[in-house]
Amino acid sequence: MNDMSISKDIIWIGASDNNQKIFESQYSLKNGMSYNSYIIKDDKTVLLDTIDESVTSIWEYKLNEELKDKEPDYLIISHMEPDHAYNIGKIAKKYPNMKVVGNQFTFNILSNFFDIDIAERKVIVKEGDVLDIGKHKLQFFMAPMVHWPEVMVTYEQTEKILFSADAFGKFGSLDVEDDWITEARRYYIGIVGKYGMQVQALLNKASTLDIKTICPLHGPILKENLNYYIEKYDTWSSYKPEEDGVYIVCSSIYGNTLEAANKMMTLIKASGQENVVLCDLTKADWAEAVANAFRFSKLVLASSSYNAGLFPPMEHFLGRLKERNYKNRVVGLIENGSWAPSAGRCMKSTLEEMKDITIIEPVITIKSKMKEDNILQMEELVKELLK
Ligand code: FEO
Repeated sequence: MNDMSISKDIIWIGASDNNQKIFESQYSLKNGMSYNSYIIKDDKTVLLDTIDESVTSIWEYKLNEELKDKEPDYLIISHMEPDHAYNIGKIAKKYPNMKVVGNQFTFNILSNFFDIDIAERKVIVKEGDVLDIGKHKLQFFMAPMVHWPEVMVTYEQTEKILFSADAFGKFGSLDVEDDWITEARRYYIGIVGKYGMQVQALLNKASTLDIKTICPLHGPILKENLNYYIEKYDTWSSYKPEEDGVYIVCSSIYGNTLEAANKMMTLIKASGQENVVLCDLTKADWAEAVANAFRFSKLVLASSSYNAGLFPPMEHFLGRLKERNYKNRVVGLIENGSWAPSAGRCMKSTLEEMKDITIIEPVITIKSKMKEDNILQMEELVKELLK
């Protein structure tokens, strides 16, 4: 279990759902999912966010243990997405004197989800406002589109803690201690990848703060080497590659396109670039494939044609890249088709809708099975790719 202790006054009351297989009904989970919620005990007692439906009973137990019979003075809502906001209606009824803190967008969305009357106890905050709860001072910064328009983060000035909402979160249960990067990258690119500009705006605000601890709404509390995490977010949100290397993404019906993709990998390595990873989209997790496309500086797409178009795994992959504003990359293309190859045209057409993508010409065309001349073409493609 990750160390989720914070301080005497600030307590994590989150929980993991170890059995959860899918997040947001689209991202597969290998090791479940975690949801974080926090309490600050001071002259006033503050609850930061509620929790997902799936782990409500654990959260309620922890909340009651911490509060005893006390009523919280404030609930701060960082984000209205149901994986954090599910219990707002329930606790707003349970604690009728608890003030509810959010921004104007928060309350607009809240009224969509909940039929509760909190007009008399709404506290609407704006950029930079401070809530003084005794020894601790909570300052609010708006973080629109990281990941919804109402998102805001809270900076606790005394202990220098950033409650970062979805930012710096990851997939996975807290009971599993894996390396942060793989599932944080898949989470970031999947959930927030489209909104790089807005993440940059949040990072600029964060750069003015002295942050000792980051408490996200998912994943471990980050206490050391914070620059590592912040730099990763800076790289991802500015659409820069993390690594010089080639990611080969293949969608093959009978294995002949995959054979060409494997040959491409061998040729790239033989040319001196050892950092090459091949992904078979027919077997891979699509969100990991998309995250890895952002990770590497160069991309090779190899796909079968299908119904005068593109084989669906590649079509889906490219759609997800485009949706997340994939840009600033060099891409090589290999198509396969037995009578009227169409994959190259389709891949190019989608890539041309993205910004700052350099497509290496010509597209290599395989007719059913790779031939000697295809290998010569691939050698040329490798030269161009590694220039
Ligand atoms: Fe973890 Fe955007 O909710």
